[in-house]
Amino acid sequence: MLTAILEAEAVSFTYPDGTRALQKVTLKIPEGQKIAVLGPNGAGKSTLFLHFNGILRPGDGCVYFAGARVNYSHKDLASLRQQVGIVFQDPDSMLFAASVRQEISFGPLNLGLSREEVLVRIAAAMAATGISDLGDKPTHFLSYGQKKRVAIASVLAMEPRVIIFDEPTAYLDPRSIREVMALLLDISRQGKTIILSTHDVDIAYTWADYIYILAAGQVIGAGTPVEIFNDAALLEAADLARPWLLDVYDDLKNKGWLPAGAPVPKSREELLALIPYRARSRVAI
Ligand SMILES: Nc1ncnc2c1ncn2[C@@H]1O[C@H](COP(=O)(O)OP(=O)(O)OP(=O)(O)O)[C@@H](O)[C@H]1O
Ligand SMILES: [Mg+2]
Repeated sequence: MLTAILEAEAVSFTYPDGTRALQKVTLKIPEGQKIAVLGPNGAGKSTLFLHFNGILRPGDGCVYFAGARVNYSHKDLASLRQQVGIVFQDPDSMLFAASVRQEISFGPLNLGLSREEVLVRIAAAMAATGISDLGDKPTHFLSYGQKKRVAIASVLAMEPRVIIFDEPTAYLDPRSIREVMALLLDISRQGKTIILSTHDVDIAYTWADYIYILAAGQVIGAGTPVEIFNDAALLEAADLARPWLLDVYDDLKNKGWLPAGAPVPKSREELLALIPYRARSRVAI
């Protein structure tokens, strides 16, 4: 049984205008895993994420970090925000410093690290996000994709145990999407826990170890990608499409073009490797 690094227990939250954004949300984030949270616009994904690093406090219920109940003291919150980093949906809401380097150095400087350590962290975060040549550039002149990378770098430089990415690929071009997802895999391989929200079911299916589905502020589904995307009633309720990989796999299987017992593929490469040579040449005709 994996230990939960973050846990929401019957969390309910209502915004001051009366919007009931979360209703008795209970879920666990196992340490070191890649977790995707899916659900339609307004489902409560971003609101849940803001609870995970203490920006919002539950109206009812509790949040646990590393087994301890978050108590919202000044000290507790400072440590939670250091351990759980969020890359927000909109990078403009995160960037405020004059230059890219200043932006990324802000968090580590606040941790009271030595100048040398801060410089090492900045360089590593900029290299990991492919923005090493942008250090002196004013953040307000950056393109959207560049801003997104700076936002990611500023969270990486804090070296949190958990990183939450709220729709990390929205509005990015195809190459940037591939690069950001490769970066997320890299970060995950370093043992960090990653939570992301996305409306891209193909990305969620291939990337995630485990998926939660939110709708109207409630958890309506939880499972492995294969479990989630083979549950037609759940997909209907959450208004989610099925990943193309699963549709193609099922179709090939129904036509008898796959060897018996062929495992369900997680990626395009795995699917192509399943198709026997003869069937592949038939597809070409
Ligand atoms: N600051 C706020 N004040 C009032 N209501 C809010 C506020 N922020 C969010 N909400 C409402 O709370 C509900 C949940 O919003 P949230 O942003 O968490 O959804 P989401 O799942 O992240 O949606 P999206 O996919 O569009 O990002 C929505 O009904 C939204 O209108
Ligand atoms: Mg959101």
